[in-house]
Amino acid sequence: MARLDVTVGRTALKNPLIAGAAEHVIEAGGVLGALRAGVGAVVVKSINEMERGKDQLQRAEYMLLDDQWREIPWTPQAPATAFMATRSGLTPQAFDAWLEQTAQLDREAKTMDSYAIASLIVADLDKTVAMARQIEQAGLRILELNIGTPYASQAKGVVATELDPARVTMIVSAVRQAIKIPLWVKITGQSERVPDLAAAAFAAGAEAVVMAGRLLGFIPDVETMQPFLGTTLGVGGYWNLPLTCHWLSVSRQQLGPDKPLIATNGARNGLDVARMMLAGAHAVEMASNVMLRGTPALSATLEELNAYLDRKNMTAADLVGRAADQRKTFADMPLRTDNWKKYVAG
Ligand SMILES: Cc1cc2nc3c(=O)[nH]c(=O)nc-3n(C[C@H](O)[C@H](O)[C@H](O)COP(=O)(O)O)c2cc1C
Repeated sequence: MARLDVTVGRTALKNPLIAGAAEHVIEAGGVLGALRAGVGAVVVKSINEMERGKDQLQRAEYMLLDDQWREIPWTPQAPATAFMATRSGLTPQAFDAWLEQTAQLDREAKTMDSYAIASLIVADLDKTVAMARQIEQAGLRILELNIGTPYASQAKGVVATELDPARVTMIVSAVRQAIKIPLWVKITGQSERVPDLAAAAFAAGAEAVVMAGRLLGFIPDVETMQPFLGTTLGVGGYWNLPLTCHWLSVSRQQLGPDKPLIATNGARNGLDVARMMLAGAHAVEMASNVMLRGTPALSATLEELNAYLDRKNMTAADLVGRAADQRKTFADMPLRTDNWKKYVAG
């Protein structure tokens, strides 16, 4: 059995796999299922004060597409390459009920050497700050603050997609000043400035930065000539992994190895967790793959990661940033005269 434990700032995790937030961690049973699968932590489904966020969940839709952009069934047997398109909302629970459930789950998680992490999506900052205080008072041990949802341009005022480092500083500082527990900040991937957004979050007191939120897409259906699911969608899948790893590696280079990064977007199995850690992640969140395939996806991921580390005779912590730290510049690449000719068809 390889050593899987990692640290994220002040927090020791028994392993780097975190069940990320989506619909399967709305209900207590879903969170407990993930905890029982052995994950280092679970981030519960996010909340904020907006009724429209709850309304959007009841209007949410989900689809999988194959490589010909044809819809395929949403089942655990779907191919690993399935493209995922969704329109989601926030938890349907009232804040008090969500808080009580999450605090109870975190107490239960503690007995399993794990965490149930509260998740807030910013809409009105004063209300976010007030909810963050209540989360700390309820005994929760970690808060993840999501300021990088894909949907702000489509759902104005309901959720945040923060693109300006100055705003990230302002928001994170306000929450940081209100609470003492570890504050993890989840940022958008819809930016050329992901490392700058991460730098702003760390400078304002984030203990870890989760990168990077999903992108928006628009997929016309050639038969009906309508957009699939009627509108712009949050898109994801295995193909996102290289983008996540790019942002991790350049952020590590810009911010240094001591700033804990957490990966999200595109992890499907244990080797993907290793890939994201080699790119600089201290821990990895897996969300949609678990929503689609259930908690067996989490156990299988832990088994595969363990087998990989045994094979390499390494610990999980040894992986962090190894590939990122070997990343060279284009100018360092050796001369390959006329190499390009081998890659032109015909
Ligand atoms: C249907 C759905 C609902 C989601 N809900 C939340 C949420 O409530 N809070 C949050 O921070 N992220 C949410 N996410 C984003 C995921 O946590 C994750 O960052 C994203 O899906 C990329 O990672 P993945 O490839 O592992 O799914 C949601 C994603 C999906 C697909």
